[in-house]
Amino acid sequence: MKKTIKKQVSSKNGKEKRNPVSANNGKTSKSAGNGKSPETSPESGSALKDFFVDGLKDLYWAEQHLVKSLPKMAKASNTKELKDLFVEHLSKTKTHVSKLEEVFQLLNVKAQAKKCDGMEGLTKEADKTIEETEDNSMTRDVALIIAAQKVEHYEIASYGGLTQLAHTMRLDEAANILGEIFQEEKEADALLSEIAERSINVEAEQEA
Ligand SMILES: [Fe+2]
Repeated sequence: MKKTIKKQVSSKNGKEKRNPVSANNGKTSKSAGNGKSPETSPESGSALKDFFVDGLKDLYWAEQHLVKSLPKMAKASNTKELKDLFVEHLSKTKTHVSKLEEVFQLLNVKAQAKKCDGMEGLTKEADKTIEETEDNSMTRDVALIIAAQKVEHYEIASYGGLTQLAHTMRLDEAANILGEIFQEEKEADALLSEIAERSINVEAEQEA
């Protein structure tokens, strides 16, 4: 069954702040309230658009879940460098949650989280890593970096794919926001590689 997506009533300049109540069938939602116009496309209500929105819901859950997991990873880290990196990525992750809310708003879709089995598995793996390595060891930090990079690669694949799809569906503003998050995930991954190669792997090897 085809769904219809309400189009925004344009103001003089076509950028009138949309009404989040009417846009969400009378329900309020967590939205960024950035005043951007919602995007619609010929694919609205199609199976592909539904798939795209499902992917956003999955990432919305994943990012919120990471907001809870990253402090545990920071606490378990033994080097200041890695701890700082996790703390820094925690603040980025919170902005990713808000940016996804902007994308939902642009699409006139309620911001909803849908459990992401992939991220749940990856964070469980990170927890296991903490349990299975010695408290004050550098091996702990090596393991945490690899666990975090698995998370980043999952996010890079998801944001990369959805950014491309948004471009294809001519959802340009959504594509720009998703592309920004994609870049930030790649930067986080590069920083993790950098500290592993420069110091943490070497120190763990010397400790062994
Ligand atoms: Fe993120």
